[in-house]
Order: sequence, then structure tokens, then C-alpha cells
Amino acid sequence: GSAQIEVESIVDSTNSQLMQRLQRGDKLLKGQCLVAEAQTTGRGRHGRVWHSPFAANLYCSMYWQLEQGIQAAMGLSLVIGVAVAELLEQQYQLKPALKWPNDIYGDGKKLAGVLIELSGQSDGQCQLVIGMGINVQMPAQSALQHIGQPWIDLTTLAGALDRNQLIAHLQQCCIKQLQRFEQHGFQAFQSEFNRRDLFQGQPVRLVQGTQQISGTCHGVDAQGNLIVEHQGKKQLYHGGELSLRAD
Ligand code: ATP
Ligand code: BTN
Repeated sequence: GSAQIEVESIVDSTNSQLMQRLQRGDKLLKGQCLVAEAQTTGRGRHGRVWHSPFAANLYCSMYWQLEQGIQAAMGLSLVIGVAVAELLEQQYQLKPALKWPNDIYGDGKKLAGVLIELSGQSDGQCQLVIGMGINVQMPAQSALQHIGQPWIDLTTLAGALDRNQLIAHLQQCCIKQLQRFEQHGFQAFQSEFNRRDLFQGQPVRLVQGTQQISGTCHGVDAQGNLIVEHQGKKQLYHGGELSLRAD
């Protein structure tokens, strides 16, 4: 059967809402989604702000549980990126690109982001909240003040669209790909990520705090590690603290 989708008007963050429920011990079902019209403190990675104006975009969090420990969750944000990209290709004939590890780009600008949070681990299981923000029709004025990098929305790329349909398709697409991930691991997604890689074959800068490495991007390996060629040697990178930039 199909999983539940709850709709709220204004919340702090749909991710925070599901995380709180899990901490209270509420039982959630795999694939269950919480969607809000607006977020007062929408979050990106590293505590950055996700600009979340009212009734304009898509702010969605999905509950998922992996039967293995957190090690198995490696590559999961890439899997969700592939799911979102595939959805946008099939439903709206777009050609989105993926930026390791968690961003979806349209026309070279940021269109959507993924934020996965771990709630708890027990018996080798792990409980996850998968947050997805997709720009649908951004009020240009407000975004100008709040977003410090080039961005774009679906209406600009694909024309007017039905947000309810988008949410329903997003849920289905994510569940389908998460199940595939559970069966086959990240390996099944490697080429699907790489052929959409924003920086494939291009010069990049990998930033971690004050440290920076420049090299050439070669996509990801079968575990979802980023491959950067630096001074003739290919090195693997992973971990939540890294940010990738064009060089
Ligand atoms: P990285 O994930 O590689 O570290 P990033 O700059 O994309 O880099 P994130 O934490 O993923 O950082 O995303 C948060 C950033 O996204 C914000 O700092 C802002 O620049 C941008 N941003 C915020 N809201 C939106 C939005 N609605 N649409 C597009 N971009 C946004
Ligand atoms: C990023 O690019 O850093 C990730 C942005 C993720 C935004 C979504 S919107 C729904 C969910 N709730 C949040 O507070 N963040 C995610």
C-alpha cells in the first residue's frame, strides 16, 4: 500500500519535527512523510539556513529505517539525489545534475538539497530522517536577501506544476530507490550518480574547514566515496564535513 503523507502549515523544520517524534519514542512507518508549507528554521548541512518561504516550495521529511548499522547509510544522500533527479527527468523532462554529496542542480544553479539525520541505532538498526527541499516557485525578492549562491526553481525550468503531484511522486520514487539500495547497496547507483555528476572531469576544490585540496573530479566509487585526482594520484574522500566547489 502507499505510505502516509502528513501536511502541516508552518513548522520549525520538518526534519526537527520527525526527529522529535522519534526521540519521544513514537512509532513511524518506513516511507511516512511530513510536508510543510513553510519552515521558520529550515536547515541545510553544517547548521546553514535553508530558505523556506510560505506556500512556494517543497519541504518534506521522510522516515526510513535500515536493518544494518550506520555504516550502511553511507551513500544514502547520493541515492536520494538520484531518486530526485530521476523524478525530475521522468515527470518534467529536465536534465538535473548532482553535486556530491547532497545537492541537486538545474541549469547550473541550486534547485534542491538533501539533509539526512540519524536518530538512533539499536540492534544494528538505524533510524533516519531524510529531509528534502525542492524549490518550486520561489518569491524572487525574498530569496535575493537570503540565499548566498545562485539558485533556481522548478517553475522557471519546467513551467507551472502541481505541488501535490510532485510530493506524491517524490515519495514513491524515494521509497522505490531506498528499497533498491537495501537490496543491492550503493553499487547499483554508482553509474546513475556519475552520469549526472555536476563536476565530472572538471577542476574542483575540496574544502574542509580551513583546509583545501584542488584536483580533478572523477565522480564516485562503488561505495559513494568522492574520487579526486590530485598531483596525478586518485584519492578517495568521504565524510560529512567536506564541501565540493568548482575551481
Ligand atoms: P555543501 O553542501 O557542498 O557544503 P552548500 O553551499 O550547498 O554546500 P548546504 O549546507 O548544502 O551548503 O546548503 C545550504 C546553503 O544553500 C545555504 O547556505 C544557501 O547558500 C543555500 N540555500 C538556502 N536556501 C536555499 C534554497 N531554498 N534554494 C537554494 N539554495 C538555498
Ligand atoms: C542542503 O542543501 O544543505 C540541504 C537542504 C535540506 C532542506 C530540507 S527542507 C525539508 C527538511 N527540513 C529541513 O530543515 N531541512 C530539510
